Amino acid sequence: MTMAERFHGWGWFSKSAISNQISNQHSTIKNLIETAMLRRSLVTGATRCGTALALLASVLAAQEHSYTPADIENGSRLYQSSCAGCHGTTGDSVPGIDLGRGPFRHATSDTEVAAIIRSGIPGTTMPPSGFSDAQAGTIVAYLRSMAATSPRANAGANVVRGDAARGRTLFEGKGECASCHRVNGIGPRVAPDLSDVGAIRTAPELQQKLIDPSAVVRPGNRYVELVTKDGAKISGRLLNYDSFSIQVIDANERLVSLPKSTLRDYTFVKASKMPSYRDSLSADEMTDLVSYLVSLKGLRP
Ligand code: HEC
Ligand code: HEC
Repeated sequence: MTMAERFHGWGWFSKSAISNQISNQHSTIKNLIETAMLRRSLVTGATRCGTALALLASVLAAQEHSYTPADIENGSRLYQSSCAGCHGTTGDSVPGIDLGRGPFRHATSDTEVAAIIRSGIPGTTMPPSGFSDAQAGTIVAYLRSMAATSPRANAGANVVRGDAARGRTLFEGKGECASCHRVNGIGPRVAPDLSDVGAIRTAPELQQKLIDPSAVVRPGNRYVELVTKDGAKISGRLLNYDSFSIQVIDANERLVSLPKSTLRDYTFVKASKMPSYRDSLSADEMTDLVSYLVSLKGLRP
């Protein structure tokens, strides 16, 4: 198998995402980091406005228009052909974004969602499109109908028993979560930052992550093992790749960018690096921990 075939074999980026990456060859690691930082500050700003307000707004927004079944069906077709490549057929393939759950991070009203569909989100890989207002409106109709019928939408209420303060102690102490994860600016970068994990994952998803970490690994959280032609081995979290190079964050939190021509081999790591807590935490401890994670919504103390 050639290297190119393998890259295509990974398949979690759509063709359009790949061509997007390729056309972005000039984007340096610095750009990547700035994008990540910009994205986080956007997210934080949005979350600060208050969940209650966001929920209220989304309820109002849902009533903003009435859509016909034909609108929804047309929107569905446009969505599957133009959006599902990145967002997935159920809307949750882009890490941190769930189009099928209801409240959006970058928009509340239908008009704002339609504007995003037409103009994209600058500084991110969310591209502008050539859709008319009416076409964008049918896609919004489809997204709203997805949210209204999705089981994830109802899981979003996220009512968890348990003691978040005790959960935080477990996170920093016995669970050793803080030895890999960063929260609110403190901790390493080898594993994903969890500062807003409560805003993007439901309690059952978080509970499952603790019990069976390898069951679901989000596309943005994948690891690769690289072997260079000199025989050096590097393992790290995949940040980005294009036709010529691959960029990872290695175990020492260094950004490593390698031209593909210098690689002998690489493998995509299936199993999560995260240990299972099935046997080391009691059911009560697990509940406390999930309750702490759910409380992490990007708000700074
Ligand atoms: C090339 C990949 C790609 C394609 C194609 C794409 N998107 Fe996106 N979209 C993204 C990414 C990445 C984000 C997240 C941007 C960010 O916040 O960093 C996003 C964000 C969004 C958001 C904002 C979600 C929120 O919570 O605020 C909406 C709405 C959206 N996309 C809708 C669409 C629709 C509808 C289409 C099809 C017309 C589409 N996208 C096509 C990659 C894509
Ligand atoms: C040895 C390092 C390590 C430890 C310890 C660890 N994790 Fe992780 N965790 C990871 C890595 C790596 C990932 C990303 C890959 C994946 O999703 O499996 C991850 C992913 C996650 C995710 C999913 C994030 C997302 O965006 O979906 C959650 C939630 C999480 N960890 C919580 C915890 C909690 C809570 C603890 C402590 C009880 C913990 N982790 C301990 C390495 C670790």
